[in-house]
Amino acid sequence: MADRDPVGDRGAVTDDIAAGSPASDIPLPSDGYVGDPAVRAEWDNRYADRHQLWSGRPNGALVAEVAGLTPGRVLDVGCGEGADAVWLARAGWDVTALEVSGVALERAAGHARDAGVAVHWVHAALTEAALPPASFDLVSAQYPALLRTPDAAAERALLAAVAPGGVLLLVHHAGMDTRDAHDSGFDPADYVWPSMVAALLDDDWEVQVDEQRPRVAPDGGAGAHHTDDVVLRVRRLR
Ligand SMILES: C[S@@+](CC[C@H](N)C(=O)[O-])C[C@H]1O[C@@H](n2cnc3c(N)ncnc32)[C@H](O)[C@@H]1O
Repeated sequence: MADRDPVGDRGAVTDDIAAGSPASDIPLPSDGYVGDPAVRAEWDNRYADRHQLWSGRPNGALVAEVAGLTPGRVLDVGCGEGADAVWLARAGWDVTALEVSGVALERAAGHARDAGVAVHWVHAALTEAALPPASFDLVSAQYPALLRTPDAAAERALLAAVAPGGVLLLVHHAGMDTRDAHDSGFDPADYVWPSMVAALLDDDWEVQVDEQRPRVAPDGGAGAHHTDDVVLRVRRLR
């Protein structure tokens, strides 16, 4: 683990990673993490197990849904190794990418450097991050592993980040929410699913997409066996 804190104080948004900066200048996430240390450790271990966990390509549902949007400010929630963040930055978006795993963020920062794009990295849990409220034109959460709490903090944080006129795009693997709890420790009741976010919407929101569809999956990566997505796309009217 690196010994520098690249993500600022209490999960604040970092400085841009300058295009083409040398490897030694890449901010490496560590001490500034804000959130449950157990969640960070769990995901750090998962990432550290493999040289690369995901496919390295942007998620198909994101690519499809973003096609008609004008680039603005985007928040990538649970950005993992950064493939979506890099793709969005290349497409002209001003990207803030948030992640609990410092191991993943280090990889993501390296990919952004290689691509010559700038991304604001935030090493924090969604509910603990010091994000500017109602300020993102797009909040993208692709297969986020957000723990559920009685006060629906994660669901509310996703919605609270969206600017008036902006869009929340929440994509998950279909059928996960109805699976049985598994010996491995996975219990769907522990996690936030798109239906839980949809249940919180009021008149300030327009549902643009709420459906299950075949997944356009990138080749390779740990999630390649999932065949269908649940896609929730909602726009904040005011
Ligand atoms: C299934 S992975 C998806 C990664 C990425 N979005 C992708 O599609 O490749 C879920 C990600 O959410 C991150 N995560 C878990 N809990 C989080 C939280 N509370 N806030 C932000 N990210 C979180 C994990 O570290 C992991 O990188």
